[in-house]
Amino acid sequence: MNNINAIVLAAGAGTRMKSKTPKVMHKISGVPLVGHVVDLLEDIDVGKTSVVIGHGKELVEPYLTSRSVNIVYQEKRLGTGHAVMMAKETIEDNEDVLVLTGDTPLLRVETIEYLLAHHRNGNYDGTVLTASFEDPTGYGRIVRDDAHLITGIVEHKDASEIERSIKEINSGIICIKGQLLKRFLEALKNDNVQGEYYLTDVIGLLSDNGYRVSGYVVEDTTEIMGINNRVQLAEADVIHQERLRKMHMENGVTFLSGVSSYVEKYVIIGADTTIEPGCVLRGTTAIGEECLIGPNSDIVNTEVRSFVEVKQSTLLDSLVEEHTKVGPYAYLRPNCRIGQHVKVGDFVEVKNASIGNGSKVSHLSYIGDGEIGENVNIGCGVVFVNYDGKNKHKTTDKDGAFVGCNVNLVAPVTVEEGAYVAAGSTITKDVPEMSLGVARAKQSNIEKWVERKAHLKK
Ligand code: UD1
Ligand code: CA
Repeated sequence: MNNINAIVLAAGAGTRMKSKTPKVMHKISGVPLVGHVVDLLEDIDVGKTSVVIGHGKELVEPYLTSRSVNIVYQEKRLGTGHAVMMAKETIEDNEDVLVLTGDTPLLRVETIEYLLAHHRNGNYDGTVLTASFEDPTGYGRIVRDDAHLITGIVEHKDASEIERSIKEINSGIICIKGQLLKRFLEALKNDNVQGEYYLTDVIGLLSDNGYRVSGYVVEDTTEIMGINNRVQLAEADVIHQERLRKMHMENGVTFLSGVSSYVEKYVIIGADTTIEPGCVLRGTTAIGEECLIGPNSDIVNTEVRSFVEVKQSTLLDSLVEEHTKVGPYAYLRPNCRIGQHVKVGDFVEVKNASIGNGSKVSHLSYIGDGEIGENVNIGCGVVFVNYDGKNKHKTTDKDGAFVGCNVNLVAPVTVEEGAYVAAGSTITKDVPEMSLGVARAKQSNIEKWVERKAHLKK
């Protein structure tokens, strides 16, 4: 939608969160509250978005600079009208200004699109997103005339007994023609109980001056739920997670025992993938099709391609290619590339390493700073000794290499193509192609030792 100037109010302290983190930076589904509002505005494709920040701006600002929004500062929190005033420079006469708050993460794109369509189709000068609440305590009340147009909004603290009995409330989301908003922001006064410049008073001024203000009623009142404390944060998170899981299910993803996995907002999951209970999928994780993501797996910013099985494992900032099995109890630390048809088995830790197609690291190994070629077999208990106390060094195992059990590969070192390393070796020199590297003491047997020992004991 064009010609819309969105202004997001996010300068408040959010004291009820009892947190060092500003309220709008608290997350649901892995995304800061204000991020959900910015996402929505991106989806609607509004022309420009400004976010008004103040409290905790040193924490909010770095996040917002990573998004394409204009940042506006409100040094003193003198009310919602004052906050909008801070963004006055951005307002053009012939555009609609959409004011939202940064703490309503559950708003749906369609709702705002309907609101804007209603505003424009009816050629209203202002439109308020409203809702009907059984208990409207604390909210601004909507006052309408006989023609059902809005004549004003009365804040709870300023309302009379009769006004308080009105159940229709202001969601805080308001759309006003740019020229009129600028004009009436100038006229705001702070002669109310809170001593604030209320944005809501612009609505009364519009009506008083013969302009038409409409109310668009939202059906699903959870959408306009503002987050003020940790309880509401948790409630909104539950609702949002349910929405996300439903979306994935509609795309063909199975969730065993529906509710127990946590999937952050930007995660992608392919069709016919099954997510077993207790999984946490975070950040930019993308899972392919027909995967089995086994119980209690924690996957962060990782691309898992199709036909992969992950069980009880932690995967961080890595890539796992097709038909590979990871776990149970594997730990992929950042910057790993695990090829196709690979096995990374139980109690294997991999860090900053690549493992080529068809290779196996089946049990109890540490693969740090390594490059493993194709069809390599790494036996049980192999350690890539990558750290000399000062620097990290690289171990290379070329295609077809076979490293026996309980081997230390002391980096920098290379096991060339097709070479073998005998079990129990501590390898400090390169092993040439098609050779066997052995580095361990020869075995000697002491005959009858046990009998003699028993004799000595007597
Ligand atoms: C506001 C509305 C009320 C509505 C309610 C919905 C006003 C005067 N009242 O009341 O009608 O029912 O929201 O939740 O608008 N903010 C700033 N700078 C300020 C003051 C506030 O950025 O100086 C931001 C806050 O961070 C918050 C939003 O504006 O995100 C709303 O402010 P708040 O003080 O919570 O308004 P309410 O009293 O809830
Ligand atoms: Ca509020």
